[in-house]
Amino acid sequence: MENFETKEDVFDIKSLTMSILMTPSVANFKGRVHGGDLLKLLDQVAYACASRYCGKYVVTLSVDSVTFKYPIEVGTLVTFLASVNYTGSSSLEVGIKVISEDIHKRIVTHTNSAYFTMVCVDENGKSVKAPPLEPKTEVEKRRYNNALKRKQARIELSKKNI
Ligand SMILES: CC(C)(COP(=O)(O)OP(=O)(O)OC[C@H]1O[C@@H](n2cnc3c(N)ncnc32)[C@H](O)[C@@H]1OP(=O)(O)O)[C@@H](O)C(=O)NCCC(=O)NCCS
Repeated sequence: MENFETKEDVFDIKSLTMSILMTPSVANFKGRVHGGDLLKLLDQVAYACASRYCGKYVVTLSVDSVTFKYPIEVGTLVTFLASVNYTGSSSLEVGIKVISEDIHKRIVTHTNSAYFTMVCVDENGKSVKAPPLEPKTEVEKRRYNNALKRKQARIELSKKNI
């Protein structure tokens, strides 16, 4: 087994991909994937992406938006493409794009998008510094700037108490 000095030698640690087969255990009454099961998976992906990036425990501060564009059929292979879009001092925004794949028909559909704010915490649950993200590519810069705008909008909303 090979040993690597750092995770960065193996992974781009600000992104994470997870694929999972949608079995009948997650079906709703219509035989499609239940929204609550999808939300749980999204939260797990956000946790895995953010905590691996930080190398620390993280908690979910807010689920900022989840869009259900299309239903997901049982039997499809669902892939979660997650990335750390932005870091503040202790908070991180994780963006997740969900792709469902009909394996037999070879059709892929972008079914969901979601944004989660996670906070890096110590063993007492107190917020601690997250490693700063330095966006380099045009895509990373766009995601960073959009995430910053969303954070500012959320702070404005929470000040208005609505
Ligand atoms: C997340 C938690 C640790 C934050 O505690 P806190 O006292 O608000 O911590 P801080 O004041 O240091 O704020 C932490 C970060 O959250 C951000 N934040 C707090 N409230 C916010 C809000 N309403 N909107 C946007 N950002 C907010 C702060 O701006 C700060 O970000 P930054 O460090 O990048 O600038 C605390 O609220 C908590 O433990 N919540 C429960 C988490 C939980 O149980 N999740 C579900 C299970 S994992």
